Amino acid sequence: MRDAEAVQGRGILLIIAGGIAAYKSLELIRRLREQGVRVRCVLTRAAAEFVTPLAVASLAGEKVFSDLFSLTDEAEMGHIRLSREADLVVVAPATADLIAKMAAGLADDLASTALLATDKPVLIAPAMNPQMWQHPATQRNLAQLAADGIRRVGPAPGDMACGETGVGRMAEPAEILAAIEALLAPAVGTLEGVRALVTSGPTVEAIDPVRFIANRSSGKQGHAIAAALRAAGCEVTLVSGPVQEPDPEGVKVVRVESAEQMLAACRAALPVAVAVCAAAVADWRVAEPLAQKLKRRAGAPPTLVLAENPDILKTLARTGPTRPTLVVGFAAETEDLEANARRKLAAKGCDWIVANDVSMDEGTFGSVYNTVKLFRAEAEPEAWPRLSKAEVALRLVACIAAHLRNTSAVAA
Ligand code: CTP
Repeated sequence: MRDAEAVQGRGILLIIAGGIAAYKSLELIRRLREQGVRVRCVLTRAAAEFVTPLAVASLAGEKVFSDLFSLTDEAEMGHIRLSREADLVVVAPATADLIAKMAAGLADDLASTALLATDKPVLIAPAMNPQMWQHPATQRNLAQLAADGIRRVGPAPGDMACGETGVGRMAEPAEILAAIEALLAPAVGTLEGVRALVTSGPTVEAIDPVRFIANRSSGKQGHAIAAALRAAGCEVTLVSGPVQEPDPEGVKVVRVESAEQMLAACRAALPVAVAVCAAAVADWRVAEPLAQKLKRRAGAPPTLVLAENPDILKTLARTGPTRPTLVVGFAAETEDLEANARRKLAAKGCDWIVANDVSMDEGTFGSVYNTVKLFRAEAEPEAWPRLSKAEVALRLVACIAAHLRNTSAVAA
């Protein structure tokens, strides 16, 4: 069963806190309702400054709750019942203030009271200014929430409404929807205890102590795959080059810079049943990186002598006692997608290739969306619609689970 089908008829309590991202929650409500999900909404006092209760009520098709001390509301539906009737509580946007209240267990309005009273899983989609996000107090509160079992989606890096750039944008509605589906769907747990390895992000190859060769990979897709494998129950090691993406919850993250370090970290993570190589590994490194900063000499441009990097995907896919049951590679192409994907499938010895066209106008690098085609040695290629990278990850994990079940690597 697809996750989307599994959420039909389920109920969500959506708590909207006061932030500019609240407008995206209207789109989230619309998409949830399209999937047949019942959405009951709570607006904090500040949220009502950004979106009107009337707009929220019209989209949700239900009365909106906003004041803890409204006797009418309380008589109609007590705040305890409100917090328990849903299958999942979603906080989007989750402001720094509400996150702090949740971490401290405060209950001074309907939103925080419902969050304290609920016995259901809680998912937060934080949204705030990058400085507020990075502040040790916020990070401390987030660590507390993670320890309390609160799930999180986003935030993403990007330009903020306040004019600053950094991590703090609320996840897109499609991503929040995918996280909701993953939490509500029975697919969760189907890969319980299966060991998985994911590579993500770029590699960084030093020229000298201050300069390097790198690429535009954001790590969004690889990190989303690691998170989705974890949600399905895998024990995941994520080997990542330098990225801005936050560490996915419950995943062992090994940070590396160069391709050689990435290969060594991957080898150390073996044996695994599944390996997904989503990293954009530099094919070349500087043969002899300089120990001291390369000085400018007028009229004499330096020549960089390059050496070939190891191919991590090919190395992992090589037959041997530690070869994973399933090895999945990516192919970033700007032309001849199909021919190149098939060529890579054969040349690398992997089982599947997820090919993405990185030349498209919407730009895949750094985007939350991805349009991919899955090439499998054993099946016809599958073109997937334009999906959020979180949704691509969920679909890929569903395919992985089905494959491992068929090859009986995982008990049914
Ligand atoms: N890959 C790898 N190690 C490398 C190069 C690539 O593990 N040194 C993996 C990537 O993680 C990806 C796949 O191989 O899963 C294809 O990467 P891509 O950059 O598309 O292909 P290349 O082999 O580098 O070929 P080309 O650059 O010619 O397209």
